[in-house]
Amino acid sequence: VTTDYDQLADRYDEDRAGFSVAPDDIVVELASSPRPTRVLDLGCGTGTWLAAQQARTVGSGVTLLGADPSTAMLAVAHGKGIANLMRAGAEQLPIPDSTIDYVVANFTFHHWQKERSLNEVRRVLRADHAVFRINNIEPEKTLGSWLYQCFPETVAIDAERFWPTPRIAEELEARGFVVDVRRESTTVDVHASQALAAAERRVISQLANLDEDAYARGLARLRSAARSHGSVFTTTSATVRVTARRV
Ligand SMILES: C[S@@+](CC[C@H](N)C(=O)[O-])C[C@H]1O[C@@H](n2cnc3c(N)ncnc32)[C@H](O)[C@@H]1O
Repeated sequence: VTTDYDQLADRYDEDRAGFSVAPDDIVVELASSPRPTRVLDLGCGTGTWLAAQQARTVGSGVTLLGADPSTAMLAVAHGKGIANLMRAGAEQLPIPDSTIDYVVANFTFHHWQKERSLNEVRRVLRADHAVFRINNIEPEKTLGSWLYQCFPETVAIDAERFWPTPRIAEELEARGFVVDVRRESTTVDVHASQALAAAERRVISQLANLDEDAYARGLARLRSAARSHGSVFTTTSATVRVTARRV
């Protein structure tokens, strides 16, 4: 299953408007390093994370780079004044061996050809103390959300696309990384009308990938729930941060 982000790029930032980018401890550490360092946002999309780091690394020796296979997502990033963007997937990076200090992958790992990409990440990272971090959702922990409840076909699609976190950790350890896993979860009541508005925007890849009949059935479920006054979905958002260090 692949998602055509060229078709979603013009609506992507609007859909994520409520999200903020938390400070990144690895970037903070690198920004205080006396030597020049290079950070790659892999699957950088519209450059939201890079824009936040730009502000936080002014005057430091950190060079920020972004890579993404979607021309339209990169065009949005470029429009934000982000430099050093390259059109590339994680499977084949136009970057020399051992030249990156930190690779971060935000909400993108499920789109990758994973074994090949992990080898590529390892190739571009410096051998000593470099870091690879994956930030993502854990679908299996959010099965009660409106998305999986109203669009049940997305459960199987995500089971195929996402590796369970223990598998990610294993594959990284097999490539010589020391791995740390942190989880966060928050549970909120999402009103059916809010869920419906998000589903109608159809920006998240689960819905973008869904066939038209399954999508229409899910919208009908949500519209019916939105008509029942006070109908809410108790929705857990479960994120995981996997930090892998080369030692
Ligand atoms: C959900 S968006 C996340 C974008 C950005 N990291 C963020 O947090 O807003 C997923 C991104 O992964 C990119 N992507 C898809 N396949 C990829 C691959 N094989 N390698 C790297 N990035 C990929 C898409 O083009 C898209 O920009």
